[in-house]
Amino acid sequence: MRVPIVAGNWKMNNTISESLTLISEIKEQNLNENVETVVAVPYTSLSEVKKVLEGTNIKLAAQNMHWEDKGAFTGEVSPLMLKEIGVDYCIIGHSERRKYFNEIDETVNKKIESALNNNIKPIVCVGETLEERESGREEEIVGRQILKGLQDIDKKSVKDIIIAYEPIWAIGTGKTASSNDANKMCSFIRKTIADKYGEEIKESIRIQYGGSVKPNNIRELMNKDNIDGALVGGASLRAEDFIKIVNY
Ligand code: 13P
Repeated sequence: MRVPIVAGNWKMNNTISESLTLISEIKEQNLNENVETVVAVPYTSLSEVKKVLEGTNIKLAAQNMHWEDKGAFTGEVSPLMLKEIGVDYCIIGHSERRKYFNEIDETVNKKIESALNNNIKPIVCVGETLEERESGREEEIVGRQILKGLQDIDKKSVKDIIIAYEPIWAIGTGKTASSNDANKMCSFIRKTIADKYGEEIKESIRIQYGGSVKPNNIRELMNKDNIDGALVGGASLRAEDFIKIVNY
């Protein structure tokens, strides 16, 4: 049985004080204990949010990291720094990083390897553009992102990875992929993983859907057999909506 996992990606929103308000509102509610809940907050808020999360089941994520432990990489944040804060997860290869910060499969691969070496679980994002989908190339694109991103990652480590399928055309647009299309791609991702790592990993690896997930579409998505959770952007910034999504 795969434990469902819902993660809120706050992106570049919330100062420290705003983060504390939002996390307190989320923490006060009864969250479904059968769903693993994660908040991916800005770097500047990680330490403070971590303190508030002590004694709860809510997990903490960063939204990005560098692959080196330390060095002359001005402006970057290393896995050791995240580890010291007590970060559980790190989003890696989000499409916004690929689009605006030149993130490519090779750097995604280095970051995944480094996160795993530091006991930080990667939430690896993949997804196609509208143009790629309209030209029927979505599986080719996502398949390549998976295989290049997971290059040289061994079977023992891969069990700690979460894959997030986020079609780029559905992010922040209000256009959710239909639950059937989302499930079809998550099934393709599972098959790609099975071909590389075998049946056991195929059954255990968790795959999230992301892209305009809202309280009113989460249940239909979660009813699909290959969708194990959601990576939520905009709706995770309102405690009320995020809680409804976790408690789908
Ligand atoms: P939205 O839920 O705002 O579409 O964002 C999805 C996303 O990018 C989560 O990582």
